[in-house]
Amino acid sequence: MIQINTHTDIPRSARDCFAYLSDFSTCEQWDPAVYRARKLTPGKPRIGTEFRVIVSLLGRRKTLRYRITELMADERITLRGRGAGIATTETITFDGDDGQCRVAYRGEFSLRGPTARAGRLAHPFIHRMISQAIKGLKAALTVDDKPRRQGWLSYAADRSVLVGEALFTDRGYFAMSNRSHAEFMSDRVVAVTGATGGIGQAIASEYARLGARVVLIGRDSQRLADAAQRVRDVAGSDPTAVETIEADLLNIGQVQRAGQQLLARHPRLDVLINNAGAMFHDYATSADGIERTVAVNLVAPFVLTETVMPGLLAAGGRVVNMASGGMYAARLNIDALSGPAEAHGGLSAYARAKRALVALNFHWSRRYGDAGIIFNAMHPGWVATPGVAKALPRFNALLRPVLRDARMGADTAVWLGASAAARHANGQFFLDRTPRPTAVIPGTRFKPSEAQSLYGWLRQTSGIDVHGLR
Ligand SMILES: NC(=O)c1ccc[n+]([C@@H]2O[C@H](COP(=O)([O-])OP(=O)(O)OC[C@H]3O[C@@H](n4cnc5c(N)ncnc54)[C@H](OP(=O)(O)O)[C@@H]3O)[C@@H](O)[C@H]2O)c1
Repeated sequence: MIQINTHTDIPRSARDCFAYLSDFSTCEQWDPAVYRARKLTPGKPRIGTEFRVIVSLLGRRKTLRYRITELMADERITLRGRGAGIATTETITFDGDDGQCRVAYRGEFSLRGPTARAGRLAHPFIHRMISQAIKGLKAALTVDDKPRRQGWLSYAADRSVLVGEALFTDRGYFAMSNRSHAEFMSDRVVAVTGATGGIGQAIASEYARLGARVVLIGRDSQRLADAAQRVRDVAGSDPTAVETIEADLLNIGQVQRAGQQLLARHPRLDVLINNAGAMFHDYATSADGIERTVAVNLVAPFVLTETVMPGLLAAGGRVVNMASGGMYAARLNIDALSGPAEAHGGLSAYARAKRALVALNFHWSRRYGDAGIIFNAMHPGWVATPGVAKALPRFNALLRPVLRDARMGADTAVWLGASAAARHANGQFFLDRTPRPTAVIPGTRFKPSEAQSLYGWLRQTSGIDVHGLR
């Protein structure tokens, strides 16, 4: 039996520390030995809640199953873990008053099978793992509000396209020094489009876990209801804190109505995530006569954001526009957004629409930045989602082992809306919580005047009134 006792002092309340740790699947955000972790039991963590934790031990992945055996709010959590030749009982206690908490850890490890035969060699290894985990936990819970800047290594990587693209895989996500989401959002409202699956559902789940009231926007009532239930299951949130609004983003009228409904329910909107996106290999137009890639990826975010602008202004809100690294291949070409059917290609139309979304993001930041709204665009990395499997089956099959999972893809969208650090950025394009260049290929940089022309084109094409210019 190996016993470890240690502690760390964290500049947060015992309540926050307990809230973060009682969902033990957050260990994937702070324990460097953990590859992924998942809460298996739906709902709020309680005695009996189980977690699956995949750890990387000496380069091999092993699965442990944890179960909460004791839970005293804001005071103590005990978990039993089994698997990979290890049986553990780990108790975490929280002691402190406002703003400062001593988190004490006591672990008992029994080794079985080959792990036990490794005998004494395992002792220093386990001690080191726990000490790194405790360091990671302290960093995860310590609010870091410093602005993010791109380091020279990542700058160089962006300019060498191959290395830059390698960071779009799960390697880029794991290269981040802090992957935590621990800045709670109770009393805040977050709306997410495309929340019925893929990255959007993961975004909604993480915001709900942080305590936000989440509104899922989607086109199918059954898929919306199912997604809302999955979000509640993951987050353990109050059932009424996850709402839905139905709208087909291919239809301007429906998008506008969804925005109005959102405003009527929530006159203050803290975060809007324009996440929904789609790639269409065949040319077709929406009922409004707009090519579908442009309609979903560009016109819908424009219409929704402009419609809910009063709510964003009231809250000093943040908008996250889900773009794609694919846009690096395209320049801003307004004429091509309504180009002829014969010139249509799925990938190029997608790249153009995402490039335009990044230009729109930039223009919005200039237009509404002084009024206190923050706009940022982002690339989620290459993520294994139903959308990728359908639109890019060969890419999906080839890169499957290194693709990110949906939670990794969601990470920056949550960080941009929830963290104090992200308040410093406006009009930028992010990957893995770091601002990146919007152009790396010569001839693809857009001018502010071109972004303004795009805005004019969107007003004309959508026919909606934009905020402040009625
Ligand atoms: N996955 C990647 O590797 C990757 C890389 C770069 C950028 N992105 C971007 O990340 C975002 C999310 O991608 P994902 O991979 O999670 O996509 P996904 O699996 O295809 O999910 C897309 C979501 O958008 C919704 N949606 C699509 N068309 C809609 C419409 N007309 N009306 C209402 N909702 C609609 C879908 O709803 P339904 O359930 O009704 O279909 C779904 O919830 C997209 O903007 C995508 O372009 C993804």
